[in-house]
This record gives sequence, C-alpha cells and structure tokens, in this order.
Amino acid sequence: MTVAVTGASGQLGRLVVEALLKDGSQPVVAVVRDPAKVADLAARGVEVRVASYDDPEALERAFQGVDRVLLVSGNEFTKRVAQHTNVLRAAERAGVKLLAYTSIPQAGRNPLILAQEHIGTEAALAGASIPTVLLRNGWYWENYTGGLAHAIETGVLYGAAGEGKVSGAARADYAEAAARVLTTDGHEGKVYELGGDETLSYAELAQVISEVAGKPVRYQD
Ligand SMILES: NC(=O)c1ccc[n+]([C@@H]2O[C@H](COP(=O)([O-])OP(=O)(O)OC[C@H]3O[C@@H](n4cnc5c(N)ncnc54)[C@H](OP(=O)(O)O)[C@@H]3O)[C@@H](O)[C@H]2O)c1
Repeated sequence: MTVAVTGASGQLGRLVVEALLKDGSQPVVAVVRDPAKVADLAARGVEVRVASYDDPEALERAFQGVDRVLLVSGNEFTKRVAQHTNVLRAAERAGVKLLAYTSIPQAGRNPLILAQEHIGTEAALAGASIPTVLLRNGWYWENYTGGLAHAIETGVLYGAAGEGKVSGAARADYAEAAARVLTTDGHEGKVYELGGDETLSYAELAQVISEVAGKPVRYQD
C-alpha cells in the first residue's frame, strides 16, 4: 500500500511524512510544488512528485498507484475550495481508496471566517465517489511561538480571546494522528475532532511563559 501526503513541503505535511517514515510500513509519496524544499526527504527514500492544487492533470499523475492520500489544506485564502476539489477529483480519477483531509474543529457550526473554506471543502468531500475521512485539527500551540520573544521582552502577552480556552496540540501530534489514520484500517467516513488534553486561556498561557522565561508576563486582552 502506498501513501501520499500533499503539502509535504509545509510544516504539518513534513511532520506527517516524518511520522510515516518512522512507522515504516509503507512507501511514502510527497506531493509538492517545489521539490527543492523536500530534497532531504527524497534523500531518505521518499518519492517526490510535483503537482500544484491548481493543476488537475499533474495531481492525477501524482496519485497514480497511490492507495491513500492526505490532503493538507492549502494556505491560499479564497482559492482553497476549488483547489481542494481539484485534489479530490484527481484522487477519484486515479483510483485512490481513501482521502483524508485536514479540516477545522466543529466545521459544521464553526463561526470563524477561517472555517468557511473548510466547510466548502467538507461539502465537496461529502459528495465524493471515494471514501473520505475528516481530520478536524485544532489550534497549533506553535501559533503562539512567533509572539513569544516580544511577550517575554515586554512582559505583556496581547490577545483578544477574553477568558476563552483552547485545547491546542503541537503540529507533531496532529501529524502523528494523520499518519495513524493513513496506516491503519477502519477510518472511512469517520470525522475526528482532534485537540490536546490540556486547555489554556491566554492568562494561563502568560503564566506558563512566565514560569519558563523566569520573568513575569501578564495577559492583556
Ligand atoms: N490548526 C491551526 O492552528 C492552523 C494554523 C494555520 C494554518 N492551518 C491550516 O493547516 C494547513 C497546514 O498547516 P502548516 O502549518 O503545515 O502550513 P504551511 O507550513 O503554510 O504549509 C502549507 C502547505 O500547503 C502547500 N500548498 C499551499 N498551496 C498549495 C497549492 N496551490 N498547491 C500545492 N501545495 C500548496 C504549501 O506548499 P509550498 O511549500 O509550495 O508553499 C505547503 O506545503 C495550512 O495550510 C492551513 O490550511 C491550521
């Protein structure tokens, strides 16, 4: 059985490939726009195939002989439903047996603007002629790391979430879940709401940063 990961040059996709290599039970295909970005993975035995989400023919070629595909949601806002639908149709034409998609939590009733393209993609997947599985990934803890240095330097962590709590997880954890779904059976039609064991508000996050940095950091809503 061969497994393909799209967006393998990205932060999550790369970690999924790493998890699949660690599992080692099947050949891995990395589908990317720019093969130079994954030269290190190619050197480790990953087959690299080139296809953009905008190129239906290249996608169909990339999925030849592939049994299971992970579609990592793209990052080109407003284009994504059409792009993801291209990936789905190419997977159907190539005879892929399972397509997994990285969606957003509670997509059906998620009020975030960010959710809209995931809802559109999930609707396309609902009409697929091949089995699909939804990996509704929660917030990455890494989303906070870009602002850490500033928070530590100034002693203030800015946010706009009130007392809201997030059950985030590291990208590597979501990647491991995806790899598990790709390498084990029984996931057709399933919807997985994925997140971490712990919930953190911004105030609690500021407390964690204070402890690790060894200096006070407070949350400013
Ligand atoms: N859960 C969260 O907190 C959270 C946060 C941010 C984003 N997301 C979503 O999760 C996805 C994965 O996260 P990430 O951190 O791995 O993002 P990332 O590092 O930006 O990776 C995005 C990947 O998608 C690929 N891609 C984008 N447009 C494409 C296209 N038209 N054709 C082919 N490949 C395309 C990129 O390829 P290139 O390397 O060629 O650009 C890259 O490999 C994001 O794209 C976004 O949809 C989730």
